[in-house]
Amino acid sequence: DPELAAQGEKVFKKCAACHQVGEGAKNRTGPVLNGVIGATIAHVGDFKYSKDFTAAHDEGFIWTIENLTEYLHKPKAMFPKTKMSFAGLKKDEEIAAVIEYLKSASQ
Ligand code: HEM
Repeated sequence: DPELAAQGEKVFKKCAACHQVGEGAKNRTGPVLNGVIGATIAHVGDFKYSKDFTAAHDEGFIWTIENLTEYLHKPKAMFPKTKMSFAGLKKDEEIAAVIEYLKSASQ
């Protein structure tokens, strides 16, 4: 849904201090987010993740729309020691939009 993705691009301004997505994206404070939905957590090889993330990686945790929605609501509720210093997004609509943007912008 291109309209939802366009809304999500605006929401992504809250993420862009730490994350890049799309062609030429680089790791910053946070990892590149290309292809993250459907990928194993902590799949970016040259990024240094928290122990919570690497432990979940070793257990085979895969990002889905459902669990990413939960994470973006309140990152520390799901992974108490995550390095992502972000309180979370309050509105389900913002989360749905930013996820749609991530899907559309991924290379
Ligand atoms: C991890 C999305 C805001 C820093 C992640 C991951 C996603 C994500 C999907 C998992 C990446 C993976 O498994 O490879 C978002 C979205 C944001 C946002 C959609 C805005 C709504 C931020 C902000 C920061 C940040 C503002 C910095 C202050 C990080 C870091 C990690 C991470 C450091 C790695 C976490 C760890 O190793 O525990 N983010 N993020 N993110 N993000 Fe964010």
